[in-house]
Amino acid sequence: MRCVVANWKMNLLAADAAAWTEAFLARHSQAPGVAVGVAPPFPLLRPVGDALRAKGVRLFAQNGHAEPKGAYTGEVSMAQIQDAGCAGVILGHSERRQFFGETDVALIKKVKAARDWNLLPLLCVGETLTERQAGFTLEVLGQQLSILAETGPGPLWVAYEPVWAIGTGLRAEAEQVREVHAFIRAKLDQFMDRGDYPVPILYGGSVTPENFPELLGIPEVAGGLVGGASLDPGKFGDLVKQAG
Ligand code: PGA
Repeated sequence: MRCVVANWKMNLLAADAAAWTEAFLARHSQAPGVAVGVAPPFPLLRPVGDALRAKGVRLFAQNGHAEPKGAYTGEVSMAQIQDAGCAGVILGHSERRQFFGETDVALIKKVKAARDWNLLPLLCVGETLTERQAGFTLEVLGQQLSILAETGPGPLWVAYEPVWAIGTGLRAEAEQVREVHAFIRAKLDQFMDRGDYPVPILYGGSVTPENFPELLGIPEVAGGLVGGASLDPGKFGDLVKQAG
């Protein structure tokens, strides 16, 4: 299975999102074996959700709180995300780790809570430039993935997103991606009983229609988590077609 997920981050207003959805769906037909996801900001989940789901596109949230409800001002629970029509939730994105203090301990609870609410966790892992230059890439990724020993078997997608490649136009070299994806696969086998769950490993970080075909040719690259390029419905549509 190939997977292509749009991460809109904190972009677009309702009118832009409606125009994006109309433009994307006008050209979209669900190819067999390709799972397509869109992760809008919370207020846009409802406005675009019905139209996307009707065409087989899965709705993702960009974050979620582990508690189902309660006094957590400013947070949104997995229960609410599921209630809003989501099929999955992005967890552990580097921007959440970097700017909002998301920890591995919190992520253990979030992965479990997502599954409790039938949401597919899309867990992001990745090293910073300093960590890569210091030779710690695999150690950092191993640590981030070790939470899966605590979360048990269950549905999961993983995205490898080198932090230095996100939104920078820099993309990891094919050999770097190959090495890391093989390492992630080995760690997944070590840390979790995969059972019947295939656990695709996506690549993220300045993915564009220009570089996606090469990325898809790398072993263990099952697709892409796409930020900047996904804001253009034409480019995102091209990426989905390339995955088919
Ligand atoms: P980018 O973002 O494609 O803009 O680099 C990817 C992501 O952060 O998920």
